[in-house]
Amino acid sequence: MSDLLKLGVLISGNGSNLQSIIDHIEEGSLKAVIKIVISNNPDAFGITRAKKHGIQTAVLKNDDFKDKEDFDSALIKILKKNDVELVIMAGFMRILTPVFLKAFPQKIINIHPALLPSFPGLHGQKQALDYGVKFSGCTVHFVDAGMDTGPIIIQAVVPVLDNDTEDSLSERILKQEHIIYSRAIQLFSEGKLTVRGRRVLATTGSAQGDAFLINP
Ligand code: GAR
Repeated sequence: MSDLLKLGVLISGNGSNLQSIIDHIEEGSLKAVIKIVISNNPDAFGITRAKKHGIQTAVLKNDDFKDKEDFDSALIKILKKNDVELVIMAGFMRILTPVFLKAFPQKIINIHPALLPSFPGLHGQKQALDYGVKFSGCTVHFVDAGMDTGPIIIQAVVPVLDNDTEDSLSERILKQEHIIYSRAIQLFSEGKLTVRGRRVLATTGSAQGDAFLINP
């Protein structure tokens, strides 16, 4: 147990990415342990999912803190207390402050529902539809001070179909999110990710293959 990578997962909502990480851990394809799930939304369904699997949870409400730094300091305290080695943002709808980034340098990753650097921020799927791109997808990346700007670990490509709605495209992208997030965490846990400037190089060929998944 002790050599498993210790994860802290941050959520704000449904938590389907959290669920996929739990499932990969339970089926043995992801060698990690979730030490704690933290939500800034007390009603997040992801909290229920975590409890169902006996995972410790915490809720930090945005309004209970005087500013962003104060919130992040409380977050850091809980994560450090639980010896968290990698912070996973899984639909966590907040921008982290430099205080937090300094506490977990190169140890925070995020998933975004678009092929970054296209369509950062909110509603990445709708942005892609409205723009008219023929392919979109999802991106797992290290988190830096910008909005969805950190070095890219894995991307999966998804076609945009003529009859797509925001919902249908989101659903197709989400399926890929559930595959690539656990793969990125597993590569990190194996110490296989090297960051050189903006580029993340994997010491095996597997991340390279993952980067070109296309699944209708
Ligand atoms: C996911 O699609 C994730 O990529 C997105 O929120 C959703 C959370 O779903 N994140 C962002 O848009 C961050 N900019 P989930 O709660 O079911 O995992």
